Amino acid sequence: MLALFFFFIALACAYPNRGPCTGDCWTHDPTMIQRHSDGKYFRFATGTGINTMTSDSVKGPWKDVGSALPKGSIIKLDDVSSTDIWAPDVHFQNNQYYMYYALSKTGTQDSEIGVATSTTLEPGSWTDHGSVGIPANSNYNRIDPNWISIGGKNYLNFGSFWNDIQQIEMESPLKAASAPAHQLSFNQTLNHREEGSFMFQNGDFYYLLYCAGIAGRYTATYPPQGEEYHIRVCRSTSGTGGFVDQDGVDCTKTGGTLLLASHGQVFGPGGPGVINDKNLGFVMYYHYYPLAEKQGGGKAGNSGYMYAWNELGWENGWPFVKAA
Ligand SMILES: *[C@@H]1O[C@H](CO)[C@@H](O)[C@H](O)[C@H]1NC(C)=O
Repeated sequence: MLALFFFFIALACAYPNRGPCTGDCWTHDPTMIQRHSDGKYFRFATGTGINTMTSDSVKGPWKDVGSALPKGSIIKLDDVSSTDIWAPDVHFQNNQYYMYYALSKTGTQDSEIGVATSTTLEPGSWTDHGSVGIPANSNYNRIDPNWISIGGKNYLNFGSFWNDIQQIEMESPLKAASAPAHQLSFNQTLNHREEGSFMFQNGDFYYLLYCAGIAGRYTATYPPQGEEYHIRVCRSTSGTGGFVDQDGVDCTKTGGTLLLASHGQVFGPGGPGVINDKNLGFVMYYHYYPLAEKQGGGKAGNSGYMYAWNELGWENGWPFVKAA
């Protein structure tokens, strides 16, 4: 037990501070993109009609500019408000921006992934196309979408909590192909929990980030130390399978190298994404629950979460979190 305690202390000291943020630093399950026309940063989050923030740098000052889909999604789920939209994922392709998102009834597999398009990223400029048509399956949960292009083909990674991280090929950015989804990552032990994945390419490898552990709203009961949300990484040369961790362990067989866990004010980091910033290089952004908030009894819902970022450094082809 004592050894475990010192292990966590060592872990806690291993992470540099998060980068600075000014202005509106609230977020939950963020996605970030620089607008092609003017380089402006857009940060989207889970929230009424998809919360939209803008800034001239990853540091801020960030400004809340409104909802991407103020009228909500055209997807209808029983007992779920059409504006209760989760975990956006935005990318640029074919001269427009695509935003994948999820609607879900918390704690169930009653979920759908949808997509909207815009040419400007501005609030209210999005055209919703509804569901991308990933079939329901008891093997996964259709949440936390993340698009990637591999060898000229479109793929959507998603999921899942149920059977962890999945990938499906897309026939077009708006529609899933008919080939069934396959698993990219899986924790075989009891209480396996992986979700909120993000994939990006650097050099010869595709890197798969995902959240493991207990998400929770951290308001009343807290997971035992070390079991709260944290971010792990796996890599593969194909991007469609064969993901392993730094020790060579297959990520569908409980592999996954720890990239970022709780430290300082950062409790339960999750919802990661990566941008290749013009000035800073690879930057990982994520949400966290401030330790002070946790110690003060917590806020309702997602309102206590904050945005953070760190530059990524590289060693032997593996990313690590760098000081700002
Ligand atoms: C797999 O799940 C177990 C139990 O929740 C956890 O202790 C372990 O850290 C997880 N492993 C990975 C690689 O996520």
